[in-house]
Amino acid sequence: MERRSMMATAQAWAMLLCLSAVLLRVSASSASVESTLLPGSSSPVEFGVAQGPDEENVNSVIRAAAHSPDMIEWVQTTLRYLHSHPELSWQEFETSAFIRKQLDSLGIRYEWPVAKTGVVGIIGSGNGPCIALRADMDALPIQEEAETKHPSLIAGRMHACGHDAHVTVLLGVAKLLQARRHLIPGTIRLVFQPAEEGNAGAQVMVEEGALGNAESIFGLHVTPFSETGTVALKPGPLMAGSGMFEALIMGKGGHAALPQLLTDPILAAATTVIALQQLVAREADPLDSQVVSVSILQAGKAYNVCPDNVRLGGTFRAFSLESFRRLKQRIEEVIVNQAAVHKCAATVDFIEDSHPFYPPTINDEKLYEHVHGVAVDMLGKDKVLVAHPVMGAEDFAFYLQKIPGFYMLLGMRNVSYGSTFSGHTSRFVVDEHALPYGVSVMAAVAETYLKKLDSQRKSAARGDQSML
Ligand SMILES: *[C@@H]1O[C@H](CO)[C@@H](O)[C@H](O)[C@H]1NC(C)=O
Repeated sequence: MERRSMMATAQAWAMLLCLSAVLLRVSASSASVESTLLPGSSSPVEFGVAQGPDEENVNSVIRAAAHSPDMIEWVQTTLRYLHSHPELSWQEFETSAFIRKQLDSLGIRYEWPVAKTGVVGIIGSGNGPCIALRADMDALPIQEEAETKHPSLIAGRMHACGHDAHVTVLLGVAKLLQARRHLIPGTIRLVFQPAEEGNAGAQVMVEEGALGNAESIFGLHVTPFSETGTVALKPGPLMAGSGMFEALIMGKGGHAALPQLLTDPILAAATTVIALQQLVAREADPLDSQVVSVSILQAGKAYNVCPDNVRLGGTFRAFSLESFRRLKQRIEEVIVNQAAVHKCAATVDFIEDSHPFYPPTINDEKLYEHVHGVAVDMLGKDKVLVAHPVMGAEDFAFYLQKIPGFYMLLGMRNVSYGSTFSGHTSRFVVDEHALPYGVSVMAAVAETYLKKLDSQRKSAARGDQSML
């Protein structure tokens, strides 16, 4: 019983986290990008330098390769295999083996294991500028009900958040760029990470050196809220930082008809819930989005018996670390002091061991300009949409604590294909037609960004010499 409810709680929590990614809405207008209210992370580089003369139009060559019959068939086969073999967080052994087999066959070396099942493929010499591309690998404990010719082969498990598509796109990028490695002036780290679904796999990847000397990182998430053939982008804050809290309010139970003999923890909990709602309403900057939600409130078994204790728990969200820390401190103060008003004691636990805090996902502004330029060139201006920020969290944020990065949304809504269901539902389907668009944008973003870094570096070196 206890175990079941704990598992259910953990599952619900994990769903809240990643759900955010699939709930991300996009606006139909690509005309303007709303200005961000909070400062983004620091910019990686200033591009004052024009790109050197190219022997080819890189973007159109990459676009053609990504949409070639060979690549289309390859990504389809890859997605179907992965979709049929879903594995839960920290158990992605077959997925990891499959990825290594593909990298082997492409002649791409890799580091493994990184964070238990994680794999980091390396394209390029290891010299020159270095960037990272990330895909998450884990599936969810959901029984598939989607209509697909390649369903999950494992009862009660399903790729219902599109991580199979993320791995497929990154493998497609690996295949495409490995064939062009002689043209790539630097190193690309292909980061395949475990345990995104509420388990902060990215944090362990970072701790175990997955980023190497990467200067920037890019990632994507599929979304059924914009059409196949589009991407949705936003500079600055995209997804919130997230934390959980668990409190115990302790009174003295007894006969519910004799309040004079009780210290009633239920009344204390009730006023605490209301007081917690005032933190965002009356203390936060109205233009700095924050959330405090109480989602667990448990006490009592009998109509005429007042319980000793009340269990209370929930989540809090903010778009800056400063606001996040303030909320955390105030949640504790409000619970302890509000309980004291009713002569109850309280403990507050932020359960970081089982539910690590996720930092906010804040897209770098300069990288946004780069990705936006590439996406417009690859897809056309009307296919590049504006992503709206959401209060959900994504563990891509752990990489952004170390280096600047950009997280984009890959549209895969296709009514005739049936890919219109939200992530984390049993009917979620990824439109296979979206995969080549993901491959083309991601590959072009990576190659052209490395070229910018390289030419910037070379001209800086020339500048230094002329100074001598
Ligand atoms: C959507 O799916 C249908 C049916 O499979 C397909 O014919 C069509 O090309 C897809 N749309 C896009 C934009 O790829």
